[in-house]
Amino acid sequence: MKPEEILAQALTDLGSVKSLTDLEAFRIRYLGTKGLLKQASDYLKQVPNELKRTYGQSLNTVKNQVQELFDQGKQKLDQAPAVAVGVDVTEPGRIATSAYRPGVAHIISQTINELSTIMERMGFAIVTGPEVEDEFHNFEALNIPPQHPARDPLDNFYLDRPAGAAPFMLRSQTSTVQIRVMETQPPPIRIISLGRVYRPDTVDATHMYMFHQMEGLVVDRHVTMKDLRSCIDQFVKAFFGPEANTRFRPSFFPFTEPSAECDIQFVLPDGSKKWIELGGCGMVDPNVLKAVNIDPEVYSGFAFGFGVERIAMRKYGIYDIRLLYENDLRFLRQFA
Ligand code: DAH
Repeated sequence: MKPEEILAQALTDLGSVKSLTDLEAFRIRYLGTKGLLKQASDYLKQVPNELKRTYGQSLNTVKNQVQELFDQGKQKLDQAPAVAVGVDVTEPGRIATSAYRPGVAHIISQTINELSTIMERMGFAIVTGPEVEDEFHNFEALNIPPQHPARDPLDNFYLDRPAGAAPFMLRSQTSTVQIRVMETQPPPIRIISLGRVYRPDTVDATHMYMFHQMEGLVVDRHVTMKDLRSCIDQFVKAFFGPEANTRFRPSFFPFTEPSAECDIQFVLPDGSKKWIELGGCGMVDPNVLKAVNIDPEVYSGFAFGFGVERIAMRKYGIYDIRLLYENDLRFLRQFA
């Protein structure tokens, strides 16, 4: 074979080199001790004298070129990731199903989303309020006077403030949002607010220093207790199912008059029935309406405040509130 033919052949062969084994075969075929280039060198002896020089020159060039092709091919294969032949590289890695499982919303976030969807369908607008509050919104405007036991500093998280500065606190209830909405928006009002509240309670199976509440407020002309009753009933049936019953027990809250505690009835797996407390509610106290310059002679309203953790725990059979905040993935993944 003439040197140029060897080069042409080498270029073609290199195209089908896919592995280091292929490349070794290529090397033996062209650069080996019995390879094509060696044969071409041996042939030099037979080349007529006047052509020896040209032949020798072109043979040298081709040798260099083939060596270079080999070196380049080797470099490429050394850098390529070691992919075994027959491996399906499109198959999802094992890692995708173990170490890097995609995340899901926390069960409390899922519950908040579900509650929001139901309440929006019932015509409520969703609003939020600050978690750091002043005493006016957390107590005063809600008809909780300065000497009221609920204001005890030991029962609230007060922020460190410079001496003489107005006190700030982490809100202890989402009822603060009632005030913030009524301050800025004239009736008719129909809102819910879902968010965190903070209380320095001793942590146990049903108490946590931070939890979530769903606060509802409706203010309009001619709003009655019957509207409150049917609103709660509709909500409970939408969330827990049509067989869930509700009952009101007389209660007391400074910001509602009359006030009630609302319970839901559950049918347990053994068929027995049990009442569980859902939260407080009532008709907005005229003093609260006055605090935000809404005329109680013209408008009336109802309000309610339910614990979100309690609702979620009831629905999903979670028996200890601490499980929600320990961030144990084995627990959290059950709600994926
Ligand atoms: N804020 C009350 C609490 O945290 C719950 C509550 C009771 C809210 C009655 C209301 C209500 O809006 O009308 O215990």
